[in-house]
Amino acid sequence: MGKIIAIVLPKGGVGKTTTAINLAYALAQNKKRTLLIDVDPSGQCATALGFTDDKIKGDILDVFSFSKSFKNVIHKTDDPNLDFVPIRRLSYNNEKRLANLASRELILKDVLDSEVYSYNYILIDCPPSLIGTTTNVLIAADSVLIPIKAAKFSLNEVDRIMEHINYIKDHRNANLRIEGILLTMHERNTKVAFKVKKELLLKYPNLMMKISIPKNIEVAESTFLSKPIILTNPDAKSSKAYIKLADELLANNSFNGVKVV
Ligand SMILES: Nc1ncnc2c1ncn2[C@@H]1O[C@H](COP(=O)(O)OP(=O)(O)OP(=O)(O)O)[C@@H](O)[C@H]1O
Ligand SMILES: [Mg+2]
Repeated sequence: MGKIIAIVLPKGGVGKTTTAINLAYALAQNKKRTLLIDVDPSGQCATALGFTDDKIKGDILDVFSFSKSFKNVIHKTDDPNLDFVPIRRLSYNNEKRLANLASRELILKDVLDSEVYSYNYILIDCPPSLIGTTTNVLIAADSVLIPIKAAKFSLNEVDRIMEHINYIKDHRNANLRIEGILLTMHERNTKVAFKVKKELLLKYPNLMMKISIPKNIEVAESTFLSKPIILTNPDAKSSKAYIKLADELLANNSFNGVKVV
C-alpha cells in the first residue's frame, strides 16, 4: 500500500512545486511507483513538466466534478515509474467552482482510497493556502512534507501549519504525521539561513529533514526548459540534494512505501 505525502505550506514561493516535481522524479528513479498530483489552481506542475493544454486529457477538477474518473486523468510521464494528475490553470470562475467542490472534504480521500494500491508514493502539490483543496489533501494524506525557505517569517509559517495539522489530526484524520520540515533555497553562509535553521532545530528537533536544498540559480533556469532540474542538470547542487532527500525519505520509511507510523 502506498504512502500519500502532502507538500504543504500556506505561503507562496517556498519551493513546494519544485520539491514536488524533483522529489517525484527522484523517487521514480529509485524504482518506486510514484504518482504526482497537482491541486494548486495555478497549474504549475503541468507547466514545469511540459504538459501543455493540448497534452492534458483531463484534470483533478474533472474528477472533483464527477465528469471524469480518476483513472482517466492519470497521465504517463517520460519516466515509466512516474504518473501525473495535473490541474489546468483555472479561470476565476473555475477556481470558485473548485473551492465549492472542495467543500466536500472527503472527496479526495474517497478517490485515492482505491488508487493507493497502485503506487508506492503519492505526492500532492498544494496551493499556498490552508483553505480549499489543502484541507481535502490533509484529510486524505498519511504525512506532510513542509518545505520552508530560510527567511525572517518562516518560523511563523511553520507554527501556522503545525497548528492546522493538529486541528486536522484532532477532527478529521487522526493518522496524519509529519514527514519532515525541509529547508529550501538554503544559503549556507548567510546569517538569516543560519538563524532560521538553528531556531527550527531548537523548536522542532525531531522533525527537520537532515538534507536541505541549496539555493541554485539553475533551478529557475530549468523552468524555461519545462523539465525539473533533476532531469536537465542532474549534477547541479540542488539536483543532488533532491536525490539525497529521496534517499532520506526512503530510509525513514520501510521499503515499498509501506507506512511507518
Ligand atoms: N533551490 C532553489 N534555488 C533557486 N531557486 C529556487 C529553488 N527552489 C525553487 N526556486 C524558485 O523559487 C520560485 C518558487 O518556487 P516554487 O514555485 O517551487 O514555490 P511554491 O512554494 O510552489 O510557490 P507557490 O506557493 O506560489 O505555488 C520559483 O521561481 C523556483 O524556480
Ligand atoms: Mg507551487
